[in-house]
Amino acid sequence: MNSQLSDLRDAFYDSKRREVMGRDGYRWAKLAIFYSSFSLGLTGFFCAMIAVLMFITPQDIPRYSSADSCMETRSSPISPGMGFRPQPNVLENLIYVNQTTDNYDSDPYIKNLNQYLQVYYGKPKKSSAAFRPFIIQSPHDCTPEKHYGFSTGRPCVLVKMNKIVDFMPKPGCQEDDQAAYEKLGCQPGPDAIAVHCYGESASDIDSIGDMTYISENTLHNQCGSLATKWFPYKGKVNRQDLYQAPYVWIQFNNLQPNVLVHVICRLYAQNIYFDKKSLGFTRFKLFLKNSSSRQNHAP
Ligand SMILES: *[C@@H]1O[C@H](CO)[C@@H](O)[C@H](O)[C@H]1NC(C)=O
Ligand SMILES: *[C@@H]1O[C@H](CO)[C@@H](O)[C@H](O)[C@H]1NC(C)=O
Repeated sequence: MNSQLSDLRDAFYDSKRREVMGRDGYRWAKLAIFYSSFSLGLTGFFCAMIAVLMFITPQDIPRYSSADSCMETRSSPISPGMGFRPQPNVLENLIYVNQTTDNYDSDPYIKNLNQYLQVYYGKPKKSSAAFRPFIIQSPHDCTPEKHYGFSTGRPCVLVKMNKIVDFMPKPGCQEDDQAAYEKLGCQPGPDAIAVHCYGESASDIDSIGDMTYISENTLHNQCGSLATKWFPYKGKVNRQDLYQAPYVWIQFNNLQPNVLVHVICRLYAQNIYFDKKSLGFTRFKLFLKNSSSRQNHAP
C-alpha cells in the first residue's frame, strides 16, 4: 500500500532523478520552446493567409458582380428588383396611414421614413469628389414637415430600384411590354426609365385613386422617372458608401379610406425583366385609417 503510494508520488515528482512527470527541467524547457515556436508559426501562417485573402478581395464591390456573379444564369438575365419605404418591419409590406392619431411625429411609418432619409440621403462624414447628392427639386407634401402627406390622407411612398453593381438600365421597354408601355401615356425620354404603379386587382384599381409621381425634376400623373445619369452603381469608395440611389415619390391623392389596397410598382426599361416572382417590381399594401369617413369614396 505504502509502496504504491510512493510510486504514484514518484511518477509525479521523482526526487532522486529530479524529474517532474518523467521529465527534468531541461527537457521541459525544450518542450516548451518547441510548442511555443510551433504555435507562433501557426499564428503567423494564419495571419499571412488572412492578409493574402484581404489583399486579393476587393473592398468596395463584391468579389463577383454583374455578369460574373450568380445573379446571372442562362434562364434569368441580370435584372434589378425594387424597394419601397416606409417599411418599419422588413417582413411586412403594409403601410398603415393612421389618420386617427394626434401625434404624427411618433407614427412608426413616419419615423421610418425620417430615419431612412437621414441615413441614406444625408451628407457623408468625409467629403469626397465622388459624392453626388440626390435631391428631388420640389417634393410637395413628401417632406418630414408635412408628415409625408399622412396627416392629410394623401400619403407619399418612396419607391426605388435596387442597387446592382455595374448595372446600366436602358431607357425604353421590353418587346412584350410595348403595348402596356404605350398605354401608360408617358415617355420619360432617352435619359430616364419609367416607374409605374397600379392596383393589383380590379377592386384595388377602384380604390387606389389618382397618383402623382414626384421624380427628381418632374411631376407627372402617369409615371415617374429615374434618370440614367445615376447609374451604374460602382460600389463604395474606400469602404464608404457615398452613393445615393435615385427614387420616386408616389403620392396617393384620393385613396379610399378604411380599405386595404394592394399596389404594384414596376419599372420599364429595355433590359429590366418584369416577372411576377421577384424581378422589376415591388408590391405593398396601403390602408388609410380615417374614423370619420367610412364611405368617403363610395363608387
Ligand atoms: C392609430 O393612432 C391611435 C391614436 O394615437 C392609436 O391609439 C392607434 O393604436 C393607432 N393605430 C395603429 C394601428 O397604430
Ligand atoms: C378623415 O377624412 C375627412 C374627409 O376627407 C377629413 O376631413 C378628416 O380630417 C380625416 N381625418 C380623420 C381623423 O377623420
